[in-house]
Amino acid sequence: MIRIDAAQLRSLVHSVFRKVGCREHEAERIAHYLVEANLVGHDSHGVIRVPQYVDWAERDRVRLNQELSVVMRTDALAVVDGNFGFGQVIGEQAVDLGVDMARRHGVAAVALRNSGHLGRIGDWPIRAAREGLASVHFVNTSGLGVLVAPTGGIDRRLSANPIAAGMPVPGRSPLILDISTSAIAEGKLKVARNRGEHVPENCIVDSEGRPTTDPHAFYATPPGALLPFGGHKGYGLSVMTEMFAGALTGNGCTDPEHATRLLNGMFSIYVDPARLPPEPDWKQDVERFIRFVKSSRRIPECAEILMPGDVEERTRERRLDDGIELDDLTWKSIVDTAEHLGLALPSIGA
Ligand SMILES: NC(=O)c1ccc[n+]([C@@H]2O[C@H](COP(=O)([O-])OP(=O)(O)OC[C@H]3O[C@@H](n4cnc5c(N)ncnc54)[C@H](O)[C@@H]3O)[C@@H](O)[C@H]2O)c1
Repeated sequence: MIRIDAAQLRSLVHSVFRKVGCREHEAERIAHYLVEANLVGHDSHGVIRVPQYVDWAERDRVRLNQELSVVMRTDALAVVDGNFGFGQVIGEQAVDLGVDMARRHGVAAVALRNSGHLGRIGDWPIRAAREGLASVHFVNTSGLGVLVAPTGGIDRRLSANPIAAGMPVPGRSPLILDISTSAIAEGKLKVARNRGEHVPENCIVDSEGRPTTDPHAFYATPPGALLPFGGHKGYGLSVMTEMFAGALTGNGCTDPEHATRLLNGMFSIYVDPARLPPEPDWKQDVERFIRFVKSSRRIPECAEILMPGDVEERTRERRLDDGIELDDLTWKSIVDTAEHLGLALPSIGA
């Protein structure tokens, strides 16, 4: 295990993506979002992705230095294309468009297709909430990324299909829900495999549909599958996520025939609460509701009732102070990738 300061890690990742050929802004954004995922505790979507992203770039599975293009636009609805570019840049541009449209019209929907991996989806409602907007985001993966078995099934038929939502709350950090509709995000299986750990029960099955906690069973040949969270409810949410993020965006519902690229589609809805009638005051109601929820009696194992987003915010504060821990395998794979690109270790700075 190594422990590394967030700024140093950002600088290393930035150097890697400059070397790959990303422009300054793109390399900076990729480094920012990957390290941010580690800071908030979602290591599965952090710098563990560096070797994979470099591999995708080298194999044209993601295209460097792309911009969002608008396919069609009305006042409140836009269909936009990520042109197979890095999701860290494309996602930001899609959110900024949605924020601008919602500010003008009170509500906006942005349907994004053909984006590279959008990383930790919670970053997008956070970006909107910083601008005072509530938002919800449905994300699917067309092509590479068929991982999840339907309820009662054995074979992979769905992607992990995350859903994220955010609500700005005056005087405190926003409420941010950010969940995969699979019982466990695939990246967390990778982290567990790299650490030699097992995953909790009811998250994966082996190639014959037998329950297992061994992440290797998922990556075996023939492969296992992830399960949806919460049985038929998570499965149902995942199917509807395919409808919004896959069918309505034009990204395409999960389809192994498109397995040349990992393409995220994202259907986002933005609401500007400032455009709502002043009475009743939604801000007061949210504050009251949070107090009410947190006042529940607790089971002995629970030190405090948390709201969605609190865990990440607290982890971020801690890791900013203490540094980010990376397992040896993850660290070695990043160093190997840097060396493969010809970055001398002293210039890595860690
Ligand atoms: N880009 C992609 O294609 C893709 C696909 C799948 C997942 N992901 C990302 O993977 C990440 C991990 O997803 P996950 O399903 O493993 O997340 P998770 O199971 O860790 O759940 C995280 C959510 O639950 C909330 N939470 C956790 N503990 C809580 C508590 N005690 N009280 C209240 N709220 C609590 C968190 O604040 C957060 O909103 C997410 O960031 C997701 O966006 C991305």
